[in-house]
Amino acid sequence: MAPGILVDDARSSHLPPSAPAKRNDDAPRAIFPDGIRTSGQHPPLYDVLQPYSAFPKQITGPTVWQRSDFEGHPERWVHPFTPSEISELSTAADAFIAAGTPLTGISKSNFPLPQLTSTLSTLRDDLLNGKGFILFKNFPAQLWGPHKTAVAYMGLGTQLGYFISQNGRGHVLGHVKDVGDDPTQIHAVRIYRTAARQFFHADDGDIVGLLCVHRAQEGGESDIVSVHNVWNVLQREHPEVAELLTKPVWYFDRKGEVSEGQEQWIRQPVVYIENGGKGRVYSKWDPYYVRSLTRFSEKGLIPELTEEQLHAMEVLEQVCQREALHMVLEVGDIQFVSNAHLLHARTAYTGEFFSSSGLLGTLTDDCGHRLCSSRATPPSPPPVARYPGG
Ligand SMILES: [Fe+2]
Repeated sequence: MAPGILVDDARSSHLPPSAPAKRNDDAPRAIFPDGIRTSGQHPPLYDVLQPYSAFPKQITGPTVWQRSDFEGHPERWVHPFTPSEISELSTAADAFIAAGTPLTGISKSNFPLPQLTSTLSTLRDDLLNGKGFILFKNFPAQLWGPHKTAVAYMGLGTQLGYFISQNGRGHVLGHVKDVGDDPTQIHAVRIYRTAARQFFHADDGDIVGLLCVHRAQEGGESDIVSVHNVWNVLQREHPEVAELLTKPVWYFDRKGEVSEGQEQWIRQPVVYIENGGKGRVYSKWDPYYVRSLTRFSEKGLIPELTEEQLHAMEVLEQVCQREALHMVLEVGDIQFVSNAHLLHARTAYTGEFFSSSGLLGTLTDDCGHRLCSSRATPPSPPPVARYPGG
């Protein structure tokens, strides 16, 4: 079985052994005491969770969008890289590789993109406070080979946030590829390592990126949906479901990515109000992580999902499917999606992608929320980790 991950450790790169050890020094240590790695999922601060009555009946603003706003209007959400932008990416990637810095040490300061900076700055704001997604095109993935492709892709991402590990192994760049893991063993595998269909979900980390390296022979199509639009629909059509989603009665599987003494699950609501900041509505959702806990509920350690919860899950998925924007990723496409106010899904596929997760500095500075991703054994609890939804 081929390894499914490109970067095996956040601190010890597989790149030349002579390369000096370097961590992402741009990451504020108050948020990243260990550099890139984060400390896994944490339960919310239960005493600051808001009741359903505190939630808005209707959310307004640019984060609320419908499929018709973008379908047939690629100019509103697609940015084809120009030849000069590609040239800038190529130059920066060549210089980074020549310097011998490990890929895990990539940062804004050692991957300068003067021409693209203003575009990426605007994009970053749109990811945080606007529609929450973009699709880049024309990235020369097949021309550059895997190493330069990974460097350029991650270098581009440094303009948007700090890379964080995606799992307990400290991986910061994942190879989304079917490595043969059995998707029916949902308590033990990460679904991105299989070819199974993903239901609508958000990843941990504020933004997730996906670069299409090889086109799927079939499937591999992507859907995204505005959580704020979904919330409005639920409030209109299924208020009982909306209410249930705000209650901290949902157990999420840590899938074994725990430190000593931690429970194998976390309990929290699916939607919650940001603690401080702009008081925005956020979501944490992945039905695979909710459904995979039968090994504990069968032993009576946690409750089984109720009929109401199963109904809510079904309604949520149906509304997401109905409201989602559909896209087919081509080779050289890079999709960046907010995890804070978007959910995404993909169809079953037979292709190959690179994925990465980022945690954005300004978002955490403003609000101190969502320090998620995964890590097995933190040296000490990071100070901002325990926030609702994080
Ligand atoms: Fe995902």
